[in-house]
Amino acid sequence: MKKVTIRVPATTANLGPGFDAFGCALGLYTDVTFEETPFGLEITGCDEAYAGPDNLAYTSFCAVMASLSEEVKGVKIHIDAQIPIARGLGSSAALLVAGAMGANVLHGNKMSTQGLLNITNAMEGHPDNLAPAFYGGLTASMVDNGLPVTVNFPLHPDWEIIALIPDFDLPTAKSRSVLPTQVSRADAIYNVAHGAMVLKAFELGDEKLMRNGMQDKLHQNYRRHLIEDYDRIEAMIRTTGAAFCLSGAGPTLLCITRNKNLRQLLEEKLPKITKANWQVMPLHVEFQGARIIAEE
Ligand code: HSE
Repeated sequence: MKKVTIRVPATTANLGPGFDAFGCALGLYTDVTFEETPFGLEITGCDEAYAGPDNLAYTSFCAVMASLSEEVKGVKIHIDAQIPIARGLGSSAALLVAGAMGANVLHGNKMSTQGLLNITNAMEGHPDNLAPAFYGGLTASMVDNGLPVTVNFPLHPDWEIIALIPDFDLPTAKSRSVLPTQVSRADAIYNVAHGAMVLKAFELGDEKLMRNGMQDKLHQNYRRHLIEDYDRIEAMIRTTGAAFCLSGAGPTLLCITRNKNLRQLLEEKLPKITKANWQVMPLHVEFQGARIIAEE
């Protein structure tokens, strides 16, 4: 095989209390095509600023090639991204996953998904977006002796996940730079307990448990000031009975509800209370992880 296209779903990480651990794949995709050539690197379909050797699809492609003891001669990469960049929907993880799978598929599929997750996790530093991008669905991951371990959790079919995506970005590095390096025992206990409730609420479809469980002391309060409209949006969503959290490192905000009318309500109310422009985007849970959609 000379050419392959990998489709990777968007992911929302943390889901409130599951900081760096929980994640869920969503129905929005980045497709990346890899074609090996005799020499050189050509990246198309993205901003010129991202079209160099630092591109994450290329760096993870090279990392997997190195693990396979294969030489990277040349490669053409074409990116067709629906997932917006630096919005908290796993755009970087999608490129890492695509690059890793691309190299593996072009060289005989010798590595397992776990092996690819190990390599990309070492690059990203936390597995919460990568795991659902590889496996699909709702996942929780831990890192043990440097290696990620992931499990899937069941989801009640009636959940509606609505992403509120603003017209500005927030680089993950900036959003992580405001976090404390140490937290109190009380805050750690708070998140462990709330995290367990969120996973059960996802399974049961229990809105009250979801609303109450989806609270956090490890990251959201430190990050809210980076998003000017955060407090106003949170206050408005709390009046609707939906659960609310930051998607990953932000700036996208997430509502989780069983109320089929929430989308319309948000579309009406958001422009009245916000300074930025916010797109209201309902997204279904994607149960299938990264996959090949074309090969030659
Ligand atoms: N868990 C990560 C964070 C997700 O919140 O910083 C973004 O990569």
